[in-house]
Amino acid sequence: MPIYEPGLGELVASNVAAGRLSFETELEQIVSTAEVIFIAVGTPSRRGDGHADLSYVYDVAREIAGSLRGFTVVVTKSTVPVGTGDEVARIIAMASPLADVAVASNPEFLREGAAIDDFKRPDRIVVGVEDDRAREVMTEVYRPLYLNQAPMLFTTRRTAELTKYAANAFLALKITFINEMADLCEVAGADVQAVARGMGLDNRIGGKFLHAGPGYGGSCFPKDTLALVKTGQDFDRPMRLVETTVAINDQRKRAMARKVIAACGGEVRGKTIGILGLTFKPNTDDMREAPALDIIRGLQDRGAKISAFDPQGMKAAAGMVSDVQFGSSAYDVAVGADALVLVTEWNEFRSLDLDRLKNEMRVPVLVDLRNVYEPHEVASRGFSYFSIGRSSETEAARTAAAEE
Ligand code: UGA
Repeated sequence: MPIYEPGLGELVASNVAAGRLSFETELEQIVSTAEVIFIAVGTPSRRGDGHADLSYVYDVAREIAGSLRGFTVVVTKSTVPVGTGDEVARIIAMASPLADVAVASNPEFLREGAAIDDFKRPDRIVVGVEDDRAREVMTEVYRPLYLNQAPMLFTTRRTAELTKYAANAFLALKITFINEMADLCEVAGADVQAVARGMGLDNRIGGKFLHAGPGYGGSCFPKDTLALVKTGQDFDRPMRLVETTVAINDQRKRAMARKVIAACGGEVRGKTIGILGLTFKPNTDDMREAPALDIIRGLQDRGAKISAFDPQGMKAAAGMVSDVQFGSSAYDVAVGADALVLVTEWNEFRSLDLDRLKNEMRVPVLVDLRNVYEPHEVASRGFSYFSIGRSSETEAARTAAAEE
């Protein structure tokens, strides 16, 4: 597998062995016999302006046009701005005027690291089609999931395209809301996790995506929020909430370095900071837009030496940061460290042997940007502990004092 995704290697191997999955390098053969073709190429941010780069999608449309035989549904699975399906249809019609083709939009809502499960048990399947035959074909494709009770929502193509951006932008906004709330909790002496729980138990709000942290990253939210902002500008309907979300999240990633510096007493020059977790979230090796990158650069700019460990992300990270000493475990990274910063909540960081960590460190400071630990527990082991939105310094100090 070119990417790390739990269970994917086994799934591909077993389906290849069963004859249900094969890979080709010749386009003609598979396109001419296919009833449905999914375009699933990347749509990264276009350099400089934040628009989605659609060149890969349009290249596919041009490449397949000449080989289409019989009625074929061409489905954009890639995340594409509203109106892209129209352009795909136009490109195919120009290149191959006689092709009997319907273009559909079928956005994906899978999360990296949980993609297989999300696919098998989706909250919903959204299909944008303008053609009855295509609708029938798509119903047939998803019949197994439909039988599993997955709601299937048929819309127009443009609506489906926008639904994808609306969902991602709303989730990004939800995270950003709780992140801002966390900052307020810290100075107001409240606990953001209890606030999130108190909010989330309201069914209208829901408890998911209310975990405060170092800011969202990854290959989706940052690029999709930017692209939606651009779409809003193009249509002269500015997406102001999304614009603000993007700005707050960018600032937040940089602010996390300042939080670490403050935890180290306002100075990190010459100090060694250990980073636990580099990827933008656990169970992936994806480093795209990972908060760890901004944090590392921010600390290095202030003269800190960085050591880091991540169960899967170090190879990708090595090409994106410089002067980082990669370790073989959390304990390895702790050796001689003046502070440890937990950036990604990998399972193996959830139950670290705190006494062992403390013995390895030069100064026992733990900055937990994912609120994995209980403030009083860490403080009672002799750590200075800082977390997100829990006014943890005061809390920990209070508990430690009470215990003495
Ligand atoms: C996201 C969406 O969740 C998927 O539904 C969508 O299909 C996908 O983008 C996509 O467009 O392809 P993904 O980027 O894999 O999935 O990861 P998420 O689990 O959504 O996490 C994104 C970022 O938000 C991570 O950095 C994560 O740490 C952060 N996050 C998430 C929080 O800080 N707090 C939360 O409560 C949830």
